[in-house]
Amino acid sequence: MKRPEHVGVLTSGGDAPGMNAAIRAVVRSSLYHGLRITGIIEGYDGMVNGRFMPLGSRDVSNIIQRGGTILRSARSEAFRSPEGRAKAAGALRAEGIDAVVVIGGDGTFNGAMVFEREHDIPLIGLPGTIDNDLKGTDATIGFDTATNTAVTAIDKIRDTASSHDRLFFVEVMGRDTGFIAMHAAMGAGAEYVMLPEERQTIDELVRALDQGSRTKSSSIVIVAEGDEEGGALTIARKVRERFDHYDIRVTVLGHLQRGGSPTVADRVLASRLGVSAVEQLINGVHGGMLGLINDQVTFTPFEAALAGRKALQYDLLRLQAILSI
Ligand code: F6P
Repeated sequence: MKRPEHVGVLTSGGDAPGMNAAIRAVVRSSLYHGLRITGIIEGYDGMVNGRFMPLGSRDVSNIIQRGGTILRSARSEAFRSPEGRAKAAGALRAEGIDAVVVIGGDGTFNGAMVFEREHDIPLIGLPGTIDNDLKGTDATIGFDTATNTAVTAIDKIRDTASSHDRLFFVEVMGRDTGFIAMHAAMGAGAEYVMLPEERQTIDELVRALDQGSRTKSSSIVIVAEGDEEGGALTIARKVRERFDHYDIRVTVLGHLQRGGSPTVADRVLASRLGVSAVEQLINGVHGGMLGLINDQVTFTPFEAALAGRKALQYDLLRLQAILSI
């Protein structure tokens, strides 16, 4: 592969705090290395429809601290078809873009993998999703912020819960994985956590709650949105139907977990990976995702990043049970 001269950058899928820090790093690193850099608006949709925006260093001033993505994001239908991808390749070539940094989650990388196989344009990925569900990195960009946002909210719920002796079910995001739920539960000192990765029955949940209920002024159960027993509302209803001695309330945190100013951890992660993405493209590395494993920037081919599920740290569940007695 010849050295790229003109890099494109896009954000795709659900936005995540820290995406702007990643865009800034890709832009400034490209300019530092003497490359042209162009933003692609609204993810793969923008690639298909040729919505491009040349970027200079000042265009990414004062965005490191902002949530969301200045390039906007989308889940593109058009890019799912070979015709759409061919149109996208044509649009890139017409603009002179000869390499692209894609920032997103598994859907983004799946699209990147298929696109690279069909068209001779190198792509490299940065893991941008609050879900932390990508293999090939200890943490995704946005996960730390989303988890901190969830914990801040749960701390507030604890104040009111303990004033009224209540049992709260708090639903957090994570799609079909429980990383946010597990970390938020531990960070907020929750009594129990329901995870999609674990088979946990309502009986087990109530048994655990009953153990603490005589000595505690409140209980908080964190429910991952993808839990097989249903979301927080469903689980709360099942508990209420069978055990009427609890005064139950439900909070669904929802999209507020996706917004807000990124934490330092996310800013640093995004900055390191963003600079590295451009340097890897210059060195001829593409067709995969960069992540941080044991504090080292690591390249994982898209295929490996997408194969199977990223494993939860199951030991955290054991610690959580110990810490909630
Ligand atoms: O993948 C990020 C995520 O926020 C998931 O946690 C959640 O299930 C999903 O996106 C929500 O998607 P949307 O913004 O399309 O409702």
